[in-house]
Amino acid sequence: MRMTMPPKKRTAIYPGSFDPLTNGHMDVIQRALEIFDEVVVAILRNPSKKALFSTEERLEMIRQSFNGNSALKVDTFDGLLVDYARMKHAVAIIRGMRAISDFENEFQMALMNRKLHKDVQSVFLMTGLRWIFTSSSIIKEAAQFGGDISDMVPNPVKLKLMEKFPLLVEKLEQNPPKKGSR
Ligand code: PNS
Repeated sequence: MRMTMPPKKRTAIYPGSFDPLTNGHMDVIQRALEIFDEVVVAILRNPSKKALFSTEERLEMIRQSFNGNSALKVDTFDGLLVDYARMKHAVAIIRGMRAISDFENEFQMALMNRKLHKDVQSVFLMTGLRWIFTSSSIIKEAAQFGGDISDMVPNPVKLKLMEKFPLLVEKLEQNPPKKGSR
């Protein structure tokens, strides 16, 4: 009798700083989950880069935002991304692509990663159009001065931003977010 082997699980790594997770990242993760059996969101531990949120806070916010999806894992890594990808037996590295301004840096990184590890493919996923202008840094900047970022981040992230920036709480109390605001 011939034994058939179960198909191999196809794992993709979605690396980044995620300081913090945005709806643009969420969109990319959802698209990646449609293609791969398992997606590992991997936060770079980088002590030399000043971050608003600690690695643990970022990990927790991502877990809370996706609670219950068993195909999604959240982890941290340091050192070379390709070494981490190898350790996880990943077939792909996912990166989100917004505007053309992302291209040059991503292109360089993908080629370097390919040189270092030829068996992992870089896969670029385009975010939904409404997230084209969303980035972690622009969200932090707006939130710091009380700008309403309610519909740009998942709720657990909004709550953590409110903890960091009292002005955001004040402004949201004065002007509660309107549903479907543009
Ligand atoms: O969200 P970011 O900050 O754009 O993510 C950048 C990240 C973490 C993907 C990139 O800096 C990275 O992979 N760093 C690990 C070191 C590495 O392997 N660099 C690429 C080859 S030089």
